[in-house]
Amino acid sequence: MSDKKVNVAIVGLGFGAEFIPIYQRHPNANLYAICQRNKTKLDQIGDAFKVEKRYTDFDELIKDPNVDAVHINSPIHLHAPQAIAALKAGKHVACTVPAATTVEECKQIVKAAEKAKKNYMMMETVVYSREFLYVREMRDKGKLGRIQFMRGSHLQNMEGWPGYWEGLPPMHYATHCVSPCLAIVKGEADYVSCLGSGRIAENLIGKYGSPFSFETAHCKIRNQDLSFEVTRYLFNASRQYRESFDLYGEKTSFEWQLAEGDEPILHTGGEKTEKVKVPDYAHLLPEGIRQYTTKGVYDANEHKHLSFVQGSGHGGSHPHLAHEFLMSLIETRPSFPDVYQSVNWTMVGICAHESAMRGGEIIKIPDFRR
Ligand SMILES: NC(=O)c1ccc[n+]([C@@H]2O[C@H](COP(=O)([O-])OP(=O)(O)OC[C@H]3O[C@@H](n4cnc5c(N)ncnc54)[C@H](O)[C@@H]3O)[C@@H](O)[C@H]2O)c1
Repeated sequence: MSDKKVNVAIVGLGFGAEFIPIYQRHPNANLYAICQRNKTKLDQIGDAFKVEKRYTDFDELIKDPNVDAVHINSPIHLHAPQAIAALKAGKHVACTVPAATTVEECKQIVKAAEKAKKNYMMMETVVYSREFLYVREMRDKGKLGRIQFMRGSHLQNMEGWPGYWEGLPPMHYATHCVSPCLAIVKGEADYVSCLGSGRIAENLIGKYGSPFSFETAHCKIRNQDLSFEVTRYLFNASRQYRESFDLYGEKTSFEWQLAEGDEPILHTGGEKTEKVKVPDYAHLLPEGIRQYTTKGVYDANEHKHLSFVQGSGHGGSHPHLAHEFLMSLIETRPSFPDVYQSVNWTMVGICAHESAMRGGEIIKIPDFRR
């Protein structure tokens, strides 16, 4: 293994703080700096994790020539502007989901990454969850047979989350249910049609002009005879957290459990079913970061990040994500997802919401690959 080290800076220290010790313990990373606007909290976290280089201003951070890569975990509407600015400043970028909130931003991310010749990776937790890795392993061993259909859902009540979530169009945060459907067949989305359903509280509607409680979309995969379906809600429905995907294969199908605490079901032909205990995939990682597939950095106290609790630890994905980002830089290859896949997964949701606002009209998803 190479002993080269990438100097990483983490931006946004809510969810983002989960990644600090992972980079600190990865053999190919140096957690060089942290950045967030509030100085008191910045210093608290900097002191706790012994990170010396601290920034309250993102623009100052990306001027620092020692920073090789930034990992952005700021609020949604900053993802694209910060990613584009960092790429233009010559930094590699890892960015939490979604990559952007408009198609134009997606285009600008691709342009900036191409021009800078730097990696951009959207840090999509689901495609490194143990459930996804388990289904991927079955695919690679030929156990699924021909893949026929995928379905994803991300059902989450966002009441009480920071204000920028209030009234957000459900499909503007759809990558958790879109990504596994596309990643498992190595596909990209071609076009989408989506319907909205129900109505959220009147005081929330004005924030983004989006009235729907649920949005449900069908999406065609480019150059494959496959399509998939995804469902999302954020407000005014009663449902335990669920971030699921189902896959229907000719030999084996995988269906997510209905409620937390149960196990997924494999359908193995005819009427045969079995519940499965999905294994952990920590063995794929360098030893120093294996522990983070099963626990978050705040496990020792009451400050566990809510998304980690609700999302069942995001399926142990955090160290896998950091590892993939770093290895793509060390091995000078595109990451998975690369910039094109990242924006394609994001644009499914953006275009789906546009479709819902137009009564289900089919919307073509732009292809930014050369
Ligand atoms: N499963 C997942 O992939 C997952 C889970 C949780 C959150 N997220 C993503 O992570 C992001 C952050 O989530 P959160 O719950 O920590 O949000 P949050 O609003 O609680 O925290 C945002 C952080 O960004 C910092 N910040 C805000 N503006 C900034 C600026 N201009 N420059 C530098 N730092 C700035 C804040 O100081 C804070 O530390 C969200 O946008 C969400 O999309 C992803």
